[in-house]
Amino acid sequence: MAIPHIDVMPETEHDAPIASSHPLRQTDDDLLLPAGELPRSASCPDAVSRRVRDELMLDGNARLNLATFVTTWMEPQARQLMAETAEKNLADRAEYPQIAAMEERCVRMLAGLWRAPYPEQVRGCSTTGSSEAAMLAGLALKRRWQARRRAQGKDTGHPNLVMGANVQVCWKKFANYFEVEPRYVPMEPGRYHLTADTLTAYCDDNTIGVVAVLGSTLDGSYDPVADICMALDGYQAATGTDIPVHVDGASGALVAPFLDPGLMWDFQLERVASINASGHKYGHVFPGLGWALWRNAEALPDDLVFEVDYLGGRSPTFTLNFSRPGAHVVAQYYNFLRYGFEGLRELAVQCRTTARTLAAQIRGMPPYELITDGSELPAFAFRLAAGTPDFTVFDVSHAMRERSWHLPAYSFPAPCQDVSVLRLVVRTGFTTDLARLFLSDLAQVTGQLRTRAPRVLPPFLHPSPAT
Ligand SMILES: Cc1ncc(COP(=O)(O)O)c(C=O)c1O
Repeated sequence: MAIPHIDVMPETEHDAPIASSHPLRQTDDDLLLPAGELPRSASCPDAVSRRVRDELMLDGNARLNLATFVTTWMEPQARQLMAETAEKNLADRAEYPQIAAMEERCVRMLAGLWRAPYPEQVRGCSTTGSSEAAMLAGLALKRRWQARRRAQGKDTGHPNLVMGANVQVCWKKFANYFEVEPRYVPMEPGRYHLTADTLTAYCDDNTIGVVAVLGSTLDGSYDPVADICMALDGYQAATGTDIPVHVDGASGALVAPFLDPGLMWDFQLERVASINASGHKYGHVFPGLGWALWRNAEALPDDLVFEVDYLGGRSPTFTLNFSRPGAHVVAQYYNFLRYGFEGLRELAVQCRTTARTLAAQIRGMPPYELITDGSELPAFAFRLAAGTPDFTVFDVSHAMRERSWHLPAYSFPAPCQDVSVLRLVVRTGFTTDLARLFLSDLAQVTGQLRTRAPRVLPPFLHPSPAT
């Protein structure tokens, strides 16, 4: 019988057996996956995961991102625990009582860290981040104020919240979403956060609270919480109006306890009703985890807490989201047990030391001058000295991006919009070696920008002399 002839010679290089088994081989299926609509049929999992991974390669390198406060490095053991608990829903407390217990233990640890005089009275919960925590804390302030006004037989219209112009956007969202008038105490040249001196001029009977930030997203500086509380004590003595303080410690509430034990900013101050922190910043957990704690039940009115029983068992819930990943709480619990106070202090010391060293080097590198020096949050802002010709901080940011560093440049809010800065955040994972490489790149980029041919700009595009 004639043996049929089978042509084993490949027609093209792509059809060669070696190429067909190669993991990076491009197949027709890959090309057919639509980018912006749900595909009609299922595809091979390997091909799809390869395609998704390929797309993700175009994202930046998290370790070179000097813009974010959010954790980009965790220990393998913590990553493993997160992977093992990825399916666990924090809302399912009856099913996962251990995760619920871990959340509660983290709240107790934070109550101790934030020096609550009666830790057993503290109420708290995890959230998706500081933004959700801010919504909850703001709502609690609003409800307390409404209850007080009703008890006094007064109207509950027109509540306002007083804060520095340096607050993070989450407070602008809170004011917008929950219909509270935001009252921003403006910055002044050389004073870029909330201070006690002018604050009370913005307060009145309708002020639900004051937000103090530890520390500022814009330059890493701390609002002076104790001075702010003292100014409000004076205001109460003069007017009878008792205004509570919320501390937005998104980053600083997990830095100051370790590095600034002498600083008064927390529940030691009687006027501080509530505090938030991002577990995913200096709590060293991947995004998104936040914490919100209230001094006692009076600070978190009961009517904001819901009891649900439809997942089995009864559980109190006071969060905007119902279902949330339990894995982040597990990771926070791991970090607290793993590092303990001393370990967390060591991580914070490393970050602040690196930030201060970098700031000191940049101070000696013309034409830069420091706005802050990394001695509060491990972050600092710097700008170009007045009169620097021909380039702006935005040019520096752009040039550093070409070398893969993400170093953000932005302008402060009015009336300080002429102040444009670069900001650098130090997180765990930003090693001394990386810091050295960064400085060398910054020096090189600055040298290139200085020697670049002067740009001829139309007059309306000339950078302000202050930038
Ligand atoms: C002071 C401050 N508050 C709130 C937030 C919002 O935090 P999150 O990203 O955890 O929602 C940030 C974020 O950088 C912040 O710096």
